[in-house]
Amino acid sequence: MATIATLILVLGFILTPLHAQTPPPNNVPISWVQNATAKGAVCLDGTPSAYYFQQGQGEGANNWLIFLQGGGWCVNQTDCLSRATYGGGSGSTKNLRQSIQFGDFLSNSSTYNPDFYNWNRVYVPYCDGSSFTGDIEAPDSVTNVTYRGARIFKATMDDLLSRGMDCAQNALLSGSSAGGLAAMIHCDRFRELLPLFARVKCLPLAAYFVHEEKLPGSRYFELAFDGLINLHGSAGMLPPLCTSTMSRPSLCLFPQYLLQFVTTPVFIAMSSFDQIQIKWNLFREDEVCLVSQNCTDDQKEAIQELRYDVLAALPKALPLFRGIWIMNCIAHEFPYHSRLKVIGDKTFADIFSDWYFDCNYL
Ligand SMILES: *[C@@H]1O[C@H](CO)[C@@H](O)[C@H](O)[C@H]1NC(C)=O
Ligand SMILES: *[C@@H]1O[C@H](CO)[C@@H](O)[C@H](O)[C@H]1NC(C)=O
Ligand SMILES: *[C@@H]1O[C@H](CO)[C@@H](O)[C@H](O)[C@H]1NC(C)=O
Ligand SMILES: *[C@@H]1O[C@H](CO)[C@@H](O)[C@H](O)[C@H]1NC(C)=O
Repeated sequence: MATIATLILVLGFILTPLHAQTPPPNNVPISWVQNATAKGAVCLDGTPSAYYFQQGQGEGANNWLIFLQGGGWCVNQTDCLSRATYGGGSGSTKNLRQSIQFGDFLSNSSTYNPDFYNWNRVYVPYCDGSSFTGDIEAPDSVTNVTYRGARIFKATMDDLLSRGMDCAQNALLSGSSAGGLAAMIHCDRFRELLPLFARVKCLPLAAYFVHEEKLPGSRYFELAFDGLINLHGSAGMLPPLCTSTMSRPSLCLFPQYLLQFVTTPVFIAMSSFDQIQIKWNLFREDEVCLVSQNCTDDQKEAIQELRYDVLAALPKALPLFRGIWIMNCIAHEFPYHSRLKVIGDKTFADIFSDWYFDCNYL
């Protein structure tokens, strides 16, 4: 049994050992997106897109949970070519497994995963390097790489609609890290695909990367997001009101600006000591020292300051419209079903499901 490694001062603690017990095996086969190549719904290396799907049962037959995998971004030609060529799953579906285990909130065990076990559950692998936003017709003339993340999202949704998602009563679009950013970017688009009276919400995990001019790394995120706009042609997936208002369209990839233009309910779940946030918005060394628990006083101060910047950049709106759960563990991606009791006796899963199902959160 792992223990919680408590850090001195208020620097949070390591989350990884806190997975709730392992759910029973739930092996789910791959589904290839229909007509993917004809629709241009292909990975960086031109291979057709795919997903893993397990059909809902009983009362969950008309409910849909979709999870978008994360994994950073590729932001220039070299970067994307390397994903397409050597990146394994990050730029291609050619090495995808014929089946994967559904765990955590994709699990079909009613005891382990009471809220979603009988829903239609979908895991979408990430192979476009653009948070599912790329939309360039021609392959790269130098590298032959294709930038088509948005078409993967669209074609995957078409497939799911034809499998019954067009009759959804409850739906949740989730994703983690770059996949969490995708869940925010596509949240209103997802809403529009579904019946008017369906309950539709989005749950981006570990994706609230902040923009703050004074942070040393903010330039790094800006460069990455400029790469999405310039190389992948991502601007078309962003709210036009945002891209026409902000000084640069790439700023609309920062959740604090993007979410001002998203009308569907979104629940933000993130660590205030997110390792990627620290590594990119501060310096790599700050993340390293935090994990090995040997930060200098200056580093601790910078990390605390960043935490305040994250909190200050969160949306200020009614709970019906925005849910927020910020924890102080050192973590980037984290399980939905963690044993952490966050408020009184409630876990994150308890709090999120109250919000999702509109009970008890006011
Ligand atoms: C979960 O799915 C697996 C197949 O992946 C199946 O064998 C098992 O019976 C299912 N469990 C429940 C509780 O439905
Ligand atoms: C795929 O293409 C076939 C033939 O063009 C068409 O009948 C079918 O409806 C398409 N499926 C989807 C999901 O687009
Ligand atoms: C470019 O990629 C496509 C698949 O997207 C492939 O069919 C074609 O052969 C490639 N061309 C070159 C020159 O590698
Ligand atoms: C491409 O982006 C990566 C970071 O993702 C960076 O390390 C590299 O220097 C960039 N290369 C060029 C040619 O800009």
